Amino acid sequence: MSRVIAVLNGPNLNLLGEREPDIYGHATLPEAEALASEAAQRAGYALDFRQSNHEGVLVDAIQELRKTVAGLVINPAGFTHTSVAIHDALTTVRGPVVEVHLSNLHRREEWRRISQVSTVADCVIMGCGVRGYALAVDYITSSPAERG
Ligand code: DQA
Repeated sequence: MSRVIAVLNGPNLNLLGEREPDIYGHATLPEAEALASEAAQRAGYALDFRQSNHEGVLVDAIQELRKTVAGLVINPAGFTHTSVAIHDALTTVRGPVVEVHLSNLHRREEWRRISQVSTVADCVIMGCGVRGYALAVDYITSSPAERG
């Protein structure tokens, strides 16, 4: 059984903390990683945390990780609303898939309510800021396959 949880982040999330802090908060991506990493370590897992501004790089990462991780957390950022390629790649992931958004998409523009990813996610967490990453890790470490 894998003891690694992957967390993938899409475009512009490298700017977390300075990008629209009224919407996304003041915490940085390394701070989000630290929260997720603490949650993983508490349950005896390691974290593979990545960010890319490129759709193909995210698809490659999903393909690389799809059979080897205990679960996959993804905040596809802007690609959430557009990417059939990320949707399709996520259908091949063996373990649980958790979609995370820092902001509550239902409180924002109408077009943000459409996610290409939600139909392939086991769990969607939004509006909890960077704490959402730790909640996503908790979901995976306590999922039935991991308790198995
Ligand atoms: C986001 C929401 C997306 O609509 C947006 O494009 C992002 C971040 C979030 O975490 O709230 O970049 O995924």
